[in-house]
Amino acid sequence: MEKYEIKSEVCVYQENELSPEERELVEAAKQATQQSYSPYSDFKVGAALRLTDGSIVTGSNQENASYPLGLCAERTALFHAQHAHPDLPVKAIAIAAFANGHFYPDAIPPCGACRQVMLEVEDRYDHPMRVLLYGTNGIHVVRSIKDLLPFQFVGESMKK
Ligand code: THU
Repeated sequence: MEKYEIKSEVCVYQENELSPEERELVEAAKQATQQSYSPYSDFKVGAALRLTDGSIVTGSNQENASYPLGLCAERTALFHAQHAHPDLPVKAIAIAAFANGHFYPDAIPPCGACRQVMLEVEDRYDHPMRVLLYGTNGIHVVRSIKDLLPFQFVGESMKK
């Protein structure tokens, strides 16, 4: 039997400890929550991406009466960015959630499907994506989606 550990590093910052660029990204994610279409869950999620040219692309969750057809904020933002700017890697993503009239105290981690899509974006450009998970108690930051999805299935996995 062989055993190994996979370690992830998570840093928790207060808003005033972030760089101005990161604060702006978190703010964009918070604002994006307000464009969510979520009449079924009442859970508004916003995502903001920083591309390598410095521009910001945002997205929010979009729900449907046929529930499984809805799309998370992260994938809404990522797919749009990849369509509009196919040559630009995504440097960072900030995610925020708003419900019951307030932003959540704890960071809301992205769902598994969104992690897999974030991984593909990192892999496609061979560029790590910093992930900033906003909560009013602190912003949880990892350097790469690989810290949130440590054992990864990528295109290359099928070639070995
Ligand atoms: N949601 C997101 O937008 N991102 C996530 O990572 C988790 C969940 C959305 C999907 C759905 O519209 C609502 O939150 C409740 O699950």
